[in-house]
Amino acid sequence: MKKSLVLTGMMGVGKTTIGRLLAKRLLLKFIDVDKVIEKNQGKSIKRIFEENGEPFFREIEERITLKILKKKRAVIALGGGAFMNNQIRLKVLKSCTSIWLKVNLKSLIKRYKKNDRRPLLNTRKTDVDLKKMYELRKKIYRFANFRINCDNMRKSQVVDKILFLYEN
Ligand code: S3P
Repeated sequence: MKKSLVLTGMMGVGKTTIGRLLAKRLLLKFIDVDKVIEKNQGKSIKRIFEENGEPFFREIEERITLKILKKKRAVIALGGGAFMNNQIRLKVLKSCTSIWLKVNLKSLIKRYKKNDRRPLLNTRKTDVDLKKMYELRKKIYRFANFRINCDNMRKSQVVDKILFLYEN
């Protein structure tokens, strides 16, 4: 049986949008882990960070993500930091097909400036901090089964490429 399809990559690369489109094409359920966490906690990720702090969020993220990964086949969008967690990453690598959606840092920074929903970005993060985070995370996202360079690609092209990889 085919495995679940898991999307990873930095905040703002389009995991949710691409994930939804993929699920539609594959006739599978789409699960956005951040949304499940928000529902479970009854508040936005932003508020969880503000009121409970990042370590608390990471604990919940680990528990909920591992639970979701046990479910039947689906398209799953991970939170941008989830792949940094050893347990989550090992489980994904063992039991799912994983895709790293890669977008260059310059475009990401542009996207971030338009949106303040992301807690890790609006706490005095400078472009230098973001670059550091990006460089560190790249070393880990690299373990995903496939990497898609999304720069200059339309969403539909990204989706087609992932479907090709997943189905072959
Ligand atoms: C995070 C990414 C967010 C969310 C949280 C932390 C991160 O998810 O899980 O704000 O550490 O990169 P998205 O990548 O869906 O924005």
